[in-house]
Amino acid sequence: MKNRRSISSLLAVAATYCFLFSLIPWVAARGVERTRALLVHEGIPRDDAGAAAAFEAIVPVLHHPRCMNCHSAGDFPRQGDNSHPHTMQIRRGSDGQGANAVRCSTCHQDHNLAGLHMPPGAPDWHLPSPAMPMIWEGLTDHQLCELFKDPHGNGHRTPAQIVEHMHTPLVLWGWTPGDGRTPVPTSQHYFLAKIQEWAEKGAACPVDVDAPTSETFGFPVIPITSYKPTFGPE
Ligand code: HEC
Ligand code: HEC
Repeated sequence: MKNRRSISSLLAVAATYCFLFSLIPWVAARGVERTRALLVHEGIPRDDAGAAAAFEAIVPVLHHPRCMNCHSAGDFPRQGDNSHPHTMQIRRGSDGQGANAVRCSTCHQDHNLAGLHMPPGAPDWHLPSPAMPMIWEGLTDHQLCELFKDPHGNGHRTPAQIVEHMHTPLVLWGWTPGDGRTPVPTSQHYFLAKIQEWAEKGAACPVDVDAPTSETFGFPVIPITSYKPTFGPE
């Protein structure tokens, strides 16, 4: 009797091990898939012209109001395709989450609310903090690219981590922005492939042909505003 019980418990232990071992290939496959998707491949030769061209290919996405409404100048978010200042006096606040009692999360949830003029939403919906405001408005393509590479301006990210950030729901929201908002027209697949190509080829930046940079003259140059939001009713 005692023996039989210990045999059956042995069998149970063996079955558990079998099950756990059978999970290993599955877990490993998932890990490899994820790493392949996110990590920059090693062994790809540095290609400055290719990287710069890949960056240029995503600039139209970066200039789209779905991105610029949180990455424009000022201490407030913007709304709509004409990027008018957010109604109701919404402010960046000390941490990007809004000022005083009017926090972004009061209205914005982790998903879009259905209906015209209802708050859009995605996980982590807020503005960059005033300490690192990540303002893209007014930057040339070269400067925008340099910002993406500057750990002191980009949230302490490597180019590979910028690629990873482009896969977050907050960024991908731009393709499913909710009722009444224009989605980013560039295909999401193309956008993600190009930002990855930029990082893989060494993350070189495009050279601005028409805009002088600080390097040209050796003194600071005030950025030329290339993005001009218009104001007024939509
Ligand atoms: C609701 C506001 C919001 C929207 C909309 C938004 N972002 Fe951001 N973005 C942020 C915040 C907040 C951060 C800082 C996150 C952090 O550091 O953890 C950020 C940081 C970034 C960064 C890294 C920092 C930098 O500037 O180098 C990139 C790249 C970026 N966003 C891309 C995009 C793209 C592309 C879109 C549009 C498809 C977009 N974002 C739309 C709020 C937004
Ligand atoms: C009192 C409610 C409320 C608060 C608080 C609020 N919002 Fe909004 N927000 C809205 C509503 C409603 C809309 C949609 C307006 C529309 O579609 O006409 C909106 C739209 C937006 C949009 C426009 C998206 C687009 O591309 O058109 C952005 C960006 C945004 N909010 C960011 C923020 C941020 C960041 C905060 C916090 C700093 C914040 N909001 C706080 C209600 C709010």
